[in-house]
Amino acid sequence: MKSNYLESTPNKDGYFGRFGGSFIPPMLEKPFADIEKAYEQLKKSPEFIDELKYVRKHYQGRPTPISFAKNLTKYCGGAKIYLKREDLNHTGAHKLNHCMAEVILAKHLGKTKVIAETGAGQHGVALATAAAYFGLECEIHMGEVDIAKEHPNVIRMKILGAKIIPATHGLKTLKEAVDSAFESYVSQTEDAIYCIGSVVGPHPFPMMVRDFQSIIGFEAKEQFKELEDSNPNHVVACVGGGSNAMGIFAGFIDDVDVNLIGVEPMGIGENLGEHAASLTYGEEGIMHGFNSIMLKDENGEPAPVYSIGSGIDYPSVGPEHAHLKDIGRTKVGLCDDNEAVDAFYKLSQLEGIIPALESAHAIGFAMKLAKTLAADKTILVNLSGRGDKDIDFVVEKYPIPNAKF
Ligand SMILES: Cc1ncc(COP(=O)(O)O)c(C=O)c1O
Repeated sequence: MKSNYLESTPNKDGYFGRFGGSFIPPMLEKPFADIEKAYEQLKKSPEFIDELKYVRKHYQGRPTPISFAKNLTKYCGGAKIYLKREDLNHTGAHKLNHCMAEVILAKHLGKTKVIAETGAGQHGVALATAAAYFGLECEIHMGEVDIAKEHPNVIRMKILGAKIIPATHGLKTLKEAVDSAFESYVSQTEDAIYCIGSVVGPHPFPMMVRDFQSIIGFEAKEQFKELEDSNPNHVVACVGGGSNAMGIFAGFIDDVDVNLIGVEPMGIGENLGEHAASLTYGEEGIMHGFNSIMLKDENGEPAPVYSIGSGIDYPSVGPEHAHLKDIGRTKVGLCDDNEAVDAFYKLSQLEGIIPALESAHAIGFAMKLAKTLAADKTILVNLSGRGDKDIDFVVEKYPIPNAKF
């Protein structure tokens, strides 16, 4: 699919407006330049495009469908709610869309190992899967707190053959996992590649991961047209680093009549440390090698953040999201822990779909939005992942509503 916006953004230095770029130590300049060069070659290569098409269709199970959430729509009363089912992508989330491509790129560069951070464990599982499929070693860094919370994904990664390295400093969650993965990568750039798990990090990752995820939006646009003979009025996705949101937004970015809404986690309150709503409360700053909007503490350092969704508790956000908000193309929605848990149970009990806690933030926001809209309006939600990884944690803290046993 041709897109004026996607083809012209970012610029050659990786800037989306004033956001993005590459702020890395000198020893990483060459490895990142090599990755950029390889990507520029590969994206024009018919063999690469064919290989990716093949694995997406015959291994990942794409295209994923769009489902009409008829019972949830009736419950909310208002706009029709549709779901793009990335929970049905192999490994249960959107993350495999960029992992398969990143590992093909790693092989093209002659690397034997992939390294990454993970929050909820979905990127870790997806990368471990891609590494197993293509026969590469895999090293995953994960905060100790998330290791305890996302136990099923930790076991999955181990079964898939990955080595798990716990991040034991600071809050021991996603930001610390990124710190730890970068540190490890610096000492093994010869053999390894850092496969960043979202549209964050230094150029070319925000662009590359967006391009790999844009399959979600391209499929969704065609599928929605088939269902409703139009575009959706609103497209809603949760935002951690922002890869699932950029993936679905990419399909509609040139259609200015489609409202694009990225939903941030409001956690348990508005004070610093109680949420991870970077775009809503943050300011401009550089972290993990890129310039974006971030939550800062009183010393200008990345602030502590919190969300019940381990994959969205990040103190910054992909630079493209900062840019799109800045130019008014996207809007930001909010959903707190309680609303997300309510959405988790409502989608489970009304539609038979247990969502990931991250995705439940997008559902929670869409439920609020639907109630304010007329019945002829439509909302397309990116259901970024399934909730199997979250079930033990949720039922222990939040009793199952209407439990019949
Ligand atoms: C299911 C799911 N959705 C969303 C996210 C957030 O990441 P991103 O904003 O990059 O899509 C994660 C991250 O782990 C995830 O596992």
